[in-house]
Amino acid sequence: MRRCVCPGSFDPVTNGHLDVIERASRLYDEVIVGVLVNTSKSGLFTVEERMDMLREVTAGLGNVLVDSFRGLLVDYCRDQGIPVVVKGLRAVSDFDYELQMSQMNNRLSGVETLFVATNPEYSFLSSSLVREVATWGGDVSALVPEPVLLRLTTRLDTPPDR
Ligand code: PNS
Repeated sequence: MRRCVCPGSFDPVTNGHLDVIERASRLYDEVIVGVLVNTSKSGLFTVEERMDMLREVTAGLGNVLVDSFRGLLVDYCRDQGIPVVVKGLRAVSDFDYELQMSQMNNRLSGVETLFVATNPEYSFLSSSLVREVATWGGDVSALVPEPVLLRLTTRLDTPPDR
């Protein structure tokens, strides 16, 4: 069975992430969406909330599972027997760091990274921008799946003073 992992912080999952996950699910028999547990960053949503949202928005994709990991991605891949990491590339600006990480991961463990070119419709999109725009009451309804929009609205019910 061909398996891959789509790793990330997913705080929260955006339509851009979902596009990459959907495309990975057409290329691989099983896709594990791996949410990084980052002990030094608290984030807007807890890892459990991020995983719940991911499960909800990938429910229609029969070969996608959601999991979390701590520490190095290559250690997670080794423990789970996953040989390939799938990442989206939004723009040339992503390339330098993504290339470095893929080369480091390959050097550390032989894991391969497959890059998919993000749909240009989402090339400007990131979780951090979604958080910032939503925090100040901006409209992110076209940028995140419906369940994420609902959670953002609830979480940011009381926007900060403008
Ligand atoms: O959504 P993000 O925050 O851009 O995802 C980055 C992520 C989680 C894929 C990356 O930071 C990662 O793999 N972190 C795990 C720690 C690790 O393996 N670091 C060495 C990378 S070469």
